[in-house]
Amino acid sequence: MAGYLIQGGRTLRGKITVHGAKNSVLPILAASLLNRSPEPIRLEGVPDLYDVRAMLSILANLGVQSTSQGSDIVLRTDQADCYHVPEFLMREMRSSIFLLGPLLGRFGKASVCYPGGCAIGKRPIDLHLSGLQALGAIIEEKDGYIHARGKLRGATITLAYPSVGATENLILAAVLARGVTIIQNAAREPEIEDLQNFLNKMGAAVEGAGSHTITIKGVHELGGASYKVYPDRIAAGTYLIAAAITGGQVTLLDAYPEHLQSLLQLFVQAGLEPKIDGHSITLEGKPLKAVPEVVTEPFPGFPTDLQPPLMTMLALCHGVSRVVEKVFPERFHHVPQLNKIGARISLRGNTATIHGVRRLYGVTVRATDLRAGAALVLAGLAARGETYVSDIKHIERGYENIHLALNSLGARIERVAST
Ligand code: UD1
Repeated sequence: MAGYLIQGGRTLRGKITVHGAKNSVLPILAASLLNRSPEPIRLEGVPDLYDVRAMLSILANLGVQSTSQGSDIVLRTDQADCYHVPEFLMREMRSSIFLLGPLLGRFGKASVCYPGGCAIGKRPIDLHLSGLQALGAIIEEKDGYIHARGKLRGATITLAYPSVGATENLILAAVLARGVTIIQNAAREPEIEDLQNFLNKMGAAVEGAGSHTITIKGVHELGGASYKVYPDRIAAGTYLIAAAITGGQVTLLDAYPEHLQSLLQLFVQAGLEPKIDGHSITLEGKPLKAVPEVVTEPFPGFPTDLQPPLMTMLALCHGVSRVVEKVFPERFHHVPQLNKIGARISLRGNTATIHGVRRLYGVTVRATDLRAGAALVLAGLAARGETYVSDIKHIERGYENIHLALNSLGARIERVAST
């Protein structure tokens, strides 16, 4: 498997535009299935990621035609005629579960298997399934497959936890259902607002995204739409952390500061002064102070997806920091790898204690999952000498050409087939 060879110790400087959000694009692509009309769907800002390609392969298998030019994609969904997602495609990524809601909404039937891509701990889908049942779906599980059928009807659903995926799946299922659906204790992540905005452009009637209560008035049909997805707040945060730990100065163009408040506040706690000007954020690296406690939580709390990259920064802060992982309590595969590169992190349950060190030292490390991999690339930027990050397929699931983006800021990262 390919890897990144990183020459560490270089200061990053410059401006960078962040690609479209992976976690928006995937449910939005799934949502396109709800359009039975011949009108096309045009999406702008679609990143070229492994997961996006996997979703496009699944859609092609279901009968959707797509053409892309750079980061623009046009989808024609009127010919879609299949409600079964084969196992080999479904296992490619976790987000394939988003197809359950739209397939049910469009065909009144769906057959998918349990999704893959779960290296960060347990990722059940019980909230997706019980929510769909509340909408009237009959669900049977057989031989690893979930078979769902039924004419959906609006209902009030209170989620036991504000799951991002369950909120999205239920919105997708409810859009064409008869009557009104209310989702209480819904997730408030910006990607839900992105999905709502896209669906409404197609003719849906969804409101409340960004709050705990989302209301979906079922409509008979949806049409085509043109839509630009939000910039990826997790990639944005990763590039800001790169500036923080290399002592450079990086400006993100086309970022949404309101999506990054918890990270920006944390930079201030660490002694940095992020500067915001409309959609741009500039961060200058300085000596970093430890942050006594960071807790990952649903939005607007600190995002679990930035926990591994942040851990690299905390490893280089003066003093002792603590990270409590409340969303995915086992999401710590990056810790042994960071310790290999010179960090001093100890784990107890869902809490990591990080004793800041003055230096990291380049070695070979392995990307065990997407954000863990990003943490290691960041560590390589700050480390003395050469770092090799293997298994970068995981990183390429969520960052479009991270090596080129960082090189444009002055890093020296080479993508190699293997060492
Ligand atoms: C989404 C994001 C992922 C992010 C996560 C949390 C996408 C494609 N992925 O994942 O990058 O890390 O949100 O912000 O958008 N849970 C249940 N039952 C369920 C569903 C979830 O118990 O049916 C639990 C999970 O085990 C986890 C917590 O809820 O502890 C959060 O999961 P959820 O918000 O659903 O994350 P995903 O949608 O899988």
